[in-house]
Amino acid sequence: MKVAFAQPGLPKSGCLAVGVLEGPTLTPSAKDLDAAIGGAVGRAIAASRFTGKADQVLELLAPAGVGLDRVVLIGLGKPESLDARRFESFGAAALVAAEKGKGTDLAIAVDVLADAKLSAATLAAHAALGAVLRAYRFDTYRTKLKAEDKPTLKTVTALVADTVAAKSAWQPLAAVAEGVAFARDLISEPANVLHPEAFAKIAKTLEKDGVAVEVLGEKEMAKLGMGSLLGVGQGSERESQLVVMRWMGGNPDDAPVAIVGKGVCFDTGGISIKPAGGMEEMKTDMSGAAVTTALMRILARRKAAANVVGIIGLVENMPSGTAQRPGDVVTSMSGQTIEVINTDAEGRLVLADALWYAQETFRPKAVVDLATLTGAIVIALGNDHAGLFSNDDALSKMLADAGAEVGEALWRMPMGDAYDEQIKSDIADMKNVGGREGGSITAAQFLKRFVQPGVAWAHLDIAGVSWTKKALPTAPKGASGFGVRLLERMIATHYESAAAPAPAKKPGKKGKK
Ligand code: BES
Ligand code: MN
Ligand code: ZN
Repeated sequence: MKVAFAQPGLPKSGCLAVGVLEGPTLTPSAKDLDAAIGGAVGRAIAASRFTGKADQVLELLAPAGVGLDRVVLIGLGKPESLDARRFESFGAAALVAAEKGKGTDLAIAVDVLADAKLSAATLAAHAALGAVLRAYRFDTYRTKLKAEDKPTLKTVTALVADTVAAKSAWQPLAAVAEGVAFARDLISEPANVLHPEAFAKIAKTLEKDGVAVEVLGEKEMAKLGMGSLLGVGQGSERESQLVVMRWMGGNPDDAPVAIVGKGVCFDTGGISIKPAGGMEEMKTDMSGAAVTTALMRILARRKAAANVVGIIGLVENMPSGTAQRPGDVVTSMSGQTIEVINTDAEGRLVLADALWYAQETFRPKAVVDLATLTGAIVIALGNDHAGLFSNDDALSKMLADAGAEVGEALWRMPMGDAYDEQIKSDIADMKNVGGREGGSITAAQFLKRFVQPGVAWAHLDIAGVSWTKKALPTAPKGASGFGVRLLERMIATHYESAAAPAPAKKPGKKGKK
């Protein structure tokens, strides 16, 4: 989808979307449109139940007097709600309406409104973002898709007076939109295609954008003592991989932020095999890794002035003659031993070594891991909030605030030593499951044992939000890419030093303190 910005005015053809505030109160562009089509806007509203409530839609086809084939009135809601998110929904609703037609062009009128929290130019960029995010499709394997079932839309143009400001507001958002689509693509790929080595190969392509990418195979991981991660992959024909992506765009003396992603390319449960119903969804069990990789690409493409390392543990959890058994004891890179009671609690085993490696190698000032870790978080929070677990209030607040800003909501969950009782093992330092009670919390308590003293750490359990069974305002059904925007915002707000030098051409050696 092409995005453009143009001066306000009636387009000669295509689809035009205009906003209407709750009341209904016509925006200036809705009034202009009404005048151009002989009062048909007013008559249509009078003939319908449309009140301008947020995201209400009223369509008029082929209005007389203009070349437009479709005009869409979209509710903007109450004046006090006119923020970036509202305009993303506005753009997305416009996109959905326009895709019903056969046209190639959608214009979205963004007015200067007295109560808006941001400039019309910024809001126009967010309207474009909403449209682009909602237009995402994954058609790779649909060879019989008929032309008439495919959307025809090619260009979204936001109509706004200050096109220069709108274009510059769009620039970083374009990188974000691309990143979200990249994450969604990775999450949507089936596991016969996107196995650990295939994923690592895609991560390698980030080198084009200036990210330093290193891939560790099973031999290298064995040398490092990563028995916990390797145990998960040992039943698979596919080789496990650890991918380390570095973007050092900040001050060279600054410790990086580490993002660690769970990359279980397919989770059958292993010998503790999952029931067949719905198991196909477990191709998305690498969402944390997808989000991490997409984030790294965004940071590089917009030359972020921050030092960030992304580390993803890529494995396939399969049952086989070589698979890990319940009761096996593995030794993690940290030296701590784990009794594997349930081979389906594999994400924490992968993260244990990836987290430890991240801290040993980079001495990061903060670590955030993302994982589709537990079914229990879906029971606790449903599909609207991801679980946030952390040992640091400041980091938690940074993440939760960033999430609220971009519409990726987090809910902080409790942690505490009392839960450790549940993961005590009779024969090893810990066991990998703590029972049904507080299942997401005991998983987080497990991860915490792989966080070194003094390190600010947060864990995002995204099991309930990474895949959506119904369309959301800015995501069609399927992979949401949840986490990409949140982390991008968090890093932009808190870790980018405006004065930092451009990234060195040759990324520095790893392993230094
Ligand atoms: N990948 C799953 C968690 C999951 C569930 C992700 C639903 C997305 C949607 C994870 O590896 C898993 O199997 N967790 C188990 C842990 C249990 C065995 C302690 C679970 O939640 O049932
Ligand atoms: Mn599992
Ligand atoms: Zn899993």
